[in-house]
Amino acid sequence: MTDQFSKKSEAWSARFTEPVADLVKRYTASVDFDKRLAMQDIAGSLAHADMLQAVGLLTQTDLEAIQRGLSSIRAEIEAGRFVWSLDLEDVHLNIEKRLTELIGDAGKRLHTARSRNDQVATDIRLWLRDTIDDIRTLLAALQTALIDLAEQHHATIMPGFTHLQVAQPVTFGHHLMAYVEMFARDDERMHDCRRRVNRLPLGAAALAGTSYPIDRERVARTLGFEGVCANSLDAVSDRDFAIEFCAAASLVMTHISRLSEELVIWMSPRVGFIDLADRFCTGSSIMPQKKNPDVPELARGKTGRVTGHLVALLTLMKGQPLAYNKDNQEDKEPLFDTADTLINTLRIFADLVGGIRVNEQRMRQAAAEGFSTATDLADYLVRKGLPFRDAHEAVARAVRLAADSGRTLDALTPAEMQSISPLIGADAYDSLTLEGSVGSRDHFGGTAPARVRGAIEAARQRLTTLSAQPSAR
Ligand code: ARG
Repeated sequence: MTDQFSKKSEAWSARFTEPVADLVKRYTASVDFDKRLAMQDIAGSLAHADMLQAVGLLTQTDLEAIQRGLSSIRAEIEAGRFVWSLDLEDVHLNIEKRLTELIGDAGKRLHTARSRNDQVATDIRLWLRDTIDDIRTLLAALQTALIDLAEQHHATIMPGFTHLQVAQPVTFGHHLMAYVEMFARDDERMHDCRRRVNRLPLGAAALAGTSYPIDRERVARTLGFEGVCANSLDAVSDRDFAIEFCAAASLVMTHISRLSEELVIWMSPRVGFIDLADRFCTGSSIMPQKKNPDVPELARGKTGRVTGHLVALLTLMKGQPLAYNKDNQEDKEPLFDTADTLINTLRIFADLVGGIRVNEQRMRQAAAEGFSTATDLADYLVRKGLPFRDAHEAVARAVRLAADSGRTLDALTPAEMQSISPLIGADAYDSLTLEGSVGSRDHFGGTAPARVRGAIEAARQRLTTLSAQPSAR
């Protein structure tokens, strides 16, 4: 054979006088990881060929041959029969070479008005678009699991913390709904990022566009892109959409990591608020009593890995002059690993949250022990006319009195309360109860059980609306 491909393994073209060194071939090849884009590459080629035919650059016979050839290749790849060759560098050249083997000259015509530069940018965008849709589906599943648990515990009392010190009582449902808010914003970010991912680079060719009378709108329509990249140099070279995705993914992982940290703390026998289902934990090879929260710990660890990929992509981009540079081949592994890590983590977490068992007594006891209703007593004094700063001071004295004698605030006698402030009457004890405290935070965004139910209702509503949107699938 004398086509360009058989020569390529020795030298790229007549311009080269010696073949590429073996190590260099391995160093520059990307097929080991970019073969993952094969289905997107085929879809892009089909849309390109359809357009070439429509504008008269390809005969109907050639188009049909290309369609037939690409569909055999798709079947070969799906069946694991496709032979990937390192000599052919990347997914694009591997598929094109096979196409030419199968259908002859028509295969060689496919690359008219196209470059691997706009081809790869298109493939990544197609892949990322689908990946974002999968992630959004998983984010919805995780939110649903959190909402279900929040509903069961909309009135379950736990201590709320600041500085990891008991601060004020909250409901466990309210605490869980805080994460639903975070993951809802993560979903918004993914949705927004998808708009910028979903634009077509094809037509930019190598960098300057092409002299052929192409129809980019037609290709965009065929592939379901919402728009066409407006500048050919930008279209082939920038990977900001991938960086943006990794930033959004890093935030999802950061939220998962915060939740993980809490799960680990809550599951510590010293705290004992929750237990995780055995299938998410492991034991110790030496200490028979151990049940370790490996999954949350690992998710916390993997967050560093995803954030690392974000930094890798930012660094990859920052020194690149226009237009395409081979540096960009390095975008794929961080991007793929970010998506894989995030998808696996979300899948596991939706299940893990559903398996959380809550020890309501332990939560309640911890809330009761930490003087968590001290602010409520201060608020009571304010309602009786004392300025807040003075009330704060009086309650501090009450806390010291109780702490010194190993009691909780509501165990102080009426006489002791009077000695703290004559304004404290018998009704003060109501505001010291945990239920009184959470129930009184009864405004939008507050922890009162009724408000938690409202937040749950709103979140469920939002998820229903989302799942009806086509791009969220
Ligand atoms: N494998 C390359 C990449 O991932 C495809 C584009 C190559 N273009 C080039 N001019 N070498 O970026």
